[in-house]
Amino acid sequence: MEGKAKVIAFANQKGGVAKTTTTLNLGVALAERGKRVLTVDLDPQSNLTMSQGLDPEELDRSMFDVLVHKVPIEEIIVSREVDLAVSSIDLAGAELAMSSIRRERPVRLRWPASRMTGTSRPRSVSTATPMLMYCL
Ligand SMILES: Nc1ncnc2c1ncn2[C@@H]1O[C@H](COP(=O)(O)OP(=O)(O)OP(=O)(O)O)[C@@H](O)[C@H]1O
Ligand SMILES: [Mg+2]
Repeated sequence: MEGKAKVIAFANQKGGVAKTTTTLNLGVALAERGKRVLTVDLDPQSNLTMSQGLDPEELDRSMFDVLVHKVPIEEIIVSREVDLAVSSIDLAGAELAMSSIRRERPVRLRWPASRMTGTSRPRSVSTATPMLMYCL
């Protein structure tokens, strides 16, 4: 299925205001309603990544490599409660690493229609709006 994804970003400089909690709960709720959801953990603290039972220190690659090393985002997505593009502590240096990149580079997502969120129960892909959620 081709189409533009809707991006919902939860970002706030203030800490502890439920950005991560909202991202996960809304992501799961939308997935249960048949939306194709990808959560993206852009926080070097990796709370969303850890919430899915993953140890960021054991990950080979993360969103850092997508942003800085042009690794295709599909390669760092894991499927848990929701599909998640994982974070690691090196994201703390992403801004500096990206300062040498001359132009803004879009992250392209080629996400097979067969790739469903969370539990792989069948859903009507044709009626589901692609949905992306970003977590800070
Ligand atoms: N609706 C809620 N009721 C009670 N506690 C909540 C609620 N939402 C979130 N919390 C709790 O508040 C704390 C902070 O939530 P969370 O980690 O989602 O915030 P955050 O904005 O992502 O924080 P950070 O800035 O550290 O990334 C957590 O302990 C979470 O369990
Ligand atoms: Mg958080």
